[in-house]
Amino acid sequence: MKPLKLHKGLAEFQKAKKIIPGGTLGIRRPYNFVEGEYPIYIDSGKGGHITDIDGNKYIDYLCAYGPIILGYREAEVDEAVIKQIRDKGFCFSLTQTLQNRLAEKLISLIPCAEKCVFVKTGSDATTLAVRIARGYTKKTSVLRCGYHGWHDWCVEVKGGIPEKLYEDIYEFKYNDLEAARTLADTHKKDLAAIIVTPLGHPLAHNIEEPAPGFLEGLKELAKRTDAVLIFDEIRTGFRLAMGGAQEYYGVTPDLACFGKALANGYAISAVCGKEPVMNMVEKDVFVSSTFFPNSDSYAAALKTLEIMERDKVLSHIWKKGNTFLDSLRAIIKKYPLRAEVSGIAPLFFITFARDNKKLYKKRRLEFYTQLIRRGIFMQPYHHSYICYRHSSEDLTKTLKAIDDSLRVVTDTIG
Ligand SMILES: Cc1ncc(COP(=O)(O)O)c(C=O)c1O
Repeated sequence: MKPLKLHKGLAEFQKAKKIIPGGTLGIRRPYNFVEGEYPIYIDSGKGGHITDIDGNKYIDYLCAYGPIILGYREAEVDEAVIKQIRDKGFCFSLTQTLQNRLAEKLISLIPCAEKCVFVKTGSDATTLAVRIARGYTKKTSVLRCGYHGWHDWCVEVKGGIPEKLYEDIYEFKYNDLEAARTLADTHKKDLAAIIVTPLGHPLAHNIEEPAPGFLEGLKELAKRTDAVLIFDEIRTGFRLAMGGAQEYYGVTPDLACFGKALANGYAISAVCGKEPVMNMVEKDVFVSSTFFPNSDSYAAALKTLEIMERDKVLSHIWKKGNTFLDSLRAIIKKYPLRAEVSGIAPLFFITFARDNKKLYKKRRLEFYTQLIRRGIFMQPYHHSYICYRHSSEDLTKTLKAIDDSLRVVTDTIG
């Protein structure tokens, strides 16, 4: 299988590097995929498919890094936004009542949600949740587990950030309740919050479900230390269940952050949680932005949630995702590559087990190269998502591409 023709994309990227540092930001840069093999610019998308600016077509499983839960250009959602813009407007000095409708909806769906605040990005939401927790407890230290965004207190790359801005943040590994316990005991007098992704999905590592008692144990730790338990549901929200991972795993935190899939691509995120904690935002904890109250994304979120409930979107995703994962597991077993599939139907990841000779890196590179050449867009270092519009034909075609790609990896690398 030959490499894709990517001339326009590569030429555009050369231009971009002169006007945008690094050509594009962060995880969209080519070295996060397979350089020279993956497209850099998307022209359009529809349903579960995307087309790059050279005209190559792909079945896309990255789903814009998470927001696309229904599909690209979902007509009903886009129409709801266009109607709001055309008939009413969406950016005013005051907000519109759609804000209340959306808060009512989230409160009806999410177990911990008694009150909600809307912001724009996942990083806004996690940063606000931590600020609320610190305001509420009048304490400072925070235990964290998972990626929570690019803000000073939590980002991995520390360039430009004075140490004092993250010196009270302590990290523990997913499912390591003992480590969390030790940290909580050490910092118990000053512990404001424990923030955790309820599903473990660290970059370039297998997805982990919570071990029995892990989430419950964190809840107990937060209770014992008078800290606020925050679930970072930016990825799990509206993917595992309509009430998030907290509904799916049956553990209710004090606060939770939602974003990504909430509006099928429109920029909105939310912090919601128990009333006394959320009430900090009435006076003591400040949050504001010119754009937070805009209702284009409220309209998108309301329509997305309406479609998801009406069309039982999540039960479809779980059903086809489970069938897909069963076949996928059977395929990878055929090859002696130590390939692994982790995750659950709505989000899964194909990785290669680490080995001393570092063959896994070569296998990963070759596997994802073969996949993209076959029109399957998955990220080598990040898990995939299944969206509503991925058809059974898409999934069957993907399984065949995976099978063929693993065969090539076996033949060329072993
Ligand atoms: C679990 C989690 N929290 C927070 C964030 C930050 O969200 P955003 O990129 O919208 O700021 C992300 C983004 O990937 C995430 O996956």
